[in-house]
Amino acid sequence: MSAAESCPLPTENGCNTQSCNKIIAMPALEPCPLSDDHQPAEAVSDNVPKYLLELGVTEECKKLILSLPIEKGWVANHLHQYQGFWHTTRQLQAVLACRRHFQAEDSDILLVTTPKSGTTWLKAIVFALMNRDQYPNNNDLHPLLSENPHVLVPFIELGLYIDGQVGDFTTFTSPRLFGTHLPFVSLPDSVKNSPCKLVYLCRNPKDTFVSLWHFTNKLRTNGIGMGTNSLEASFDKFTRGVSLYGPFWDHVLGYWKESLENPDRVLFLKYEDMKEQPKVQVLKLAKFLERPFLLEEETNGVLDGILKLCSFENLSNLEVNKTGKLASGENYKTFFRRGEVGDAKNHLTPQMIAKLDRITQEKLHGYGLKF
Ligand code: A3P
Repeated sequence: MSAAESCPLPTENGCNTQSCNKIIAMPALEPCPLSDDHQPAEAVSDNVPKYLLELGVTEECKKLILSLPIEKGWVANHLHQYQGFWHTTRQLQAVLACRRHFQAEDSDILLVTTPKSGTTWLKAIVFALMNRDQYPNNNDLHPLLSENPHVLVPFIELGLYIDGQVGDFTTFTSPRLFGTHLPFVSLPDSVKNSPCKLVYLCRNPKDTFVSLWHFTNKLRTNGIGMGTNSLEASFDKFTRGVSLYGPFWDHVLGYWKESLENPDRVLFLKYEDMKEQPKVQVLKLAKFLERPFLLEEETNGVLDGILKLCSFENLSNLEVNKTGKLASGENYKTFFRRGEVGDAKNHLTPQMIAKLDRITQEKLHGYGLKF
């Protein structure tokens, strides 16, 4: 049975699966107050990327949505607050389906991030690290040379349970590698109750925000030319917590706390540390994933080779990443911009920086987490 045939609502939301079969098309593109320009009034053609659509919402789920706080989205029209976190309509359905259907295996490895924290990089590194015997990184046939990391390590909710799919896991080998942006509170019970490992990569909120602003504007303009969101309007949303899988700080905090309580289960990494000391961080990562580097692998260039293969310079210049796109319409090249620490200072005013620093201090410093 596919998720489109049954309501993906978890039972605690009172889902009546009998009445969930009716698929409803939500209005897709109303004028968005975040936009500097006007959008078309409705979805117009097959050229509209899936990430802009709000189609296939089951009646029961539409009811749930009506009971949830709602805000205008950054790209797709709406954001809904579920379990304290904001999701687009399409994404919310996927989150619900994933929570209901995903069955974790003990050996699974989940790579968790908020959007724009370095997900693509982390996926590439863990893929290369875990498959280094099968694919030595001097191999011209290394999958990372011809496939985007988001294809090699799919998102659970956004890849395997999106648009009514029920994940096909037949091609996965153990240990299975997945990405997810799910906040800790929304992880499926099967994940919470299993010993599978979670790697959380976070990034300082200033660079994350700037990266998200650029990314969402590219999705808007590459989609059907919707015009860009102003920095100020997006900043207002981000600081209020209204961003994809936001509030950013709550997302980070959920995994930070869990990493302190269960360090064997959750490894907490920072993008900035990865940039500054990549070898140290990847050695730590490999140890956590129980695939430590042998001394000879460190000396004969295996570790260096993985870092080079997964570097921003290498990945962003590969033909596949310049020209390809995800099934849902995002161009791979939108996942690569500058890949640097501190770019926020080129975009944000001193007041904006002070505001983000203040929120970070209020929300995270008390828990010992600083950027
Ligand atoms: P910038 O927009 O600051 O350049 P995500 O992968 O979570 O979508 O995050 C995207 C951010 O990670 C972008 O940041 C992108 O440039 C950066 N990035 C992508 N690949 C990278 C890599 N191999 N090394 C470092 N940063 C990378």
